[in-house]
Amino acid sequence: MNRRFQDLKIWFDEFCAKYTCSADTDVVFNLGVKTSHTNRVVDLITKIADELGADITIATACGLLHDAGRFPQFSEYRTFSDSRSVNHAKLSALVVNESGILGELFNKSESEIIMLAILNHNKIAVGSDISADALLYTNMLRDADKLDILNIMVSHYESPVDEKDGIELGLPDLPIVTESVMCTAEAGEAVSYADMQCLNDFRILQIGWAADLNSPTACRIFRDARFVERIRGFLPTGARIDKLCERVTTELDRMIMNPAEVFLGNQLQEKNLSAD
Ligand SMILES: [Fe+2]
Repeated sequence: MNRRFQDLKIWFDEFCAKYTCSADTDVVFNLGVKTSHTNRVVDLITKIADELGADITIATACGLLHDAGRFPQFSEYRTFSDSRSVNHAKLSALVVNESGILGELFNKSESEIIMLAILNHNKIAVGSDISADALLYTNMLRDADKLDILNIMVSHYESPVDEKDGIELGLPDLPIVTESVMCTAEAGEAVSYADMQCLNDFRILQIGWAADLNSPTACRIFRDARFVERIRGFLPTGARIDKLCERVTTELDRMIMNPAEVFLGNQLQEKNLSAD
């Protein structure tokens, strides 16, 4: 761990402690989930950045700060559902910006990259107005974040915990998939959080994340964890869902076999567009 990251971690731990010292056990449990999530995202983004030869300090800063807004969000609204509270990525950017910590540890362009990664980490698609460098770190963060959220969710499906509202976003566990959500997934498009009406919709959204991965490391971790097969076990039986899972698995294997198409291709394309 280098000095700049150590200093950033000291700031982050002090920031979190303001919220995690609550006497409310629900707050302590749910913010504990987010603290652990953050630590694992830092580990995951380190692996992804290392393989791609990206700057580890910038990458780990993105991982550490991306969900800072979750702490004030849950403390105030008692939910991690953005649609029922606030956009947590914007709140993360706001608290990081107000603290001035990036200006103390990073230069202007590094700080901008970190802020853009934070702001874009939870968007259904990254905006086209972002520089190639910012896109690189944003995509690494999005991959690391998705992988760990999947790990939390699949572990929860397999061994449910009582304090589940924060994890399941308060969605009812109905034996159906919303037709519009299924159609979106079948079209190969990303399902929006706002369109989810039940827990199975969230499971379909999570299976679809495979197609939105950007790095070979993330694709391999996704496949090796068998997320698609494990989530499938909690969805209703039926040929449509079987076919969707098959297609996603095939696409994942294709991405692993052709890594240049997955990430470097995107980056090169972006750089070419920037050069015009
Ligand atoms: Fe997040």
